[in-house]
Order: sequence, then structure tokens, then C-alpha cells
Amino acid sequence: MRGAPLALLALAVAAAGCSEGGLSPAAERGRQVYLAHCVACHNPDPAQAGPVGPPVKGSSRELLEAKVLHGTYPPGYTPKRPTKVMVPIPAVAPEIGALAEYLR
Ligand code: HEC
Repeated sequence: MRGAPLALLALAVAAAGCSEGGLSPAAERGRQVYLAHCVACHNPDPAQAGPVGPPVKGSSRELLEAKVLHGTYPPGYTPKRPTKVMVPIPAVAPEIGALAEYLR
């Protein structure tokens, strides 16, 4: 049984890694999606402006759906930038809820 405590420790460390920053599972999932698809242009910290894109912290689900899936904005929304540089990424459609959870 010498290996058991070590295995338990490894489990504890893995579990702690998952709840980094106290994010909910959905928000953590959203963070992964954000890091995979968005940080080429947006800042890894969504509250800051990135190399190309504006800050996106606080983006509503409605805004994310419009901009990320369709390259548009919700009716009446004033975009942070007048440009149209960002290409829609329809592949993340199943993750929009998680993204919204992470960015809110
Ligand atoms: C190719 C670079 C690029 C990528 C990749 C990208 N964006 Fe953008 N994003 C931009 C730019 C630039 C803007 C400013 C408007 C424009 O020019 O399209 C923007 C605007 C936005 C806006 C609107 C902000 C506002 O309030 O006006 C949201 C929301 C957004 N991005 C979310 C995302 C998310 C979420 C992802 C990943 C799934 C992503 N972006 C990936 C470049 C990018």
C-alpha cells in the first residue's frame, strides 16, 4: 500500500487544478474554448484589450451568438469597434453557453 498516499495526493492535485480560480465547470469549459479559439486576437485576460480584438469581459450570450456565430451584433447594440476584422467561428456554437458563463 506504499503507493496509495501518493495516488491520493495526485488525485487531490488534479482536482484542485480543475477548480482553478473557483470557476464553475461550465465557466472552466468556456475558459478552455476561449483560450483555444479567441486569444489569437483577444487578450488571455478577457477584461483587457488584446493584440487585435477589444476586451470581451461581460459579453452577453446574445452578443456572443451574434458576433461569434454570425459576425453581427444584437439589435441596438453599439459595437466597441467599427471594424469587421473578426471572422465568425460557427464551430464553437455548442460552447456559446460555456463562453458566456466564463465571460460574464
Ligand atoms: C481574427 C481575430 C479574432 C478572433 C480569432 C476572435 N476575435 Fe473577437 N473580435 C476581433 C476584433 C478585431 C473585434 C472588433 C470588431 C471587428 O473588427 O470584428 C472583435 C470583436 C468581438 C466581440 C464584440 C465586442 C463588442 O462588445 O463590440 C466579441 C463579443 C468577440 N469578439 C468575441 C470573440 C470570441 C468569444 C472569440 C473566440 C470564440 C473571438 N472573439 C475570436 C478579433 C477576433
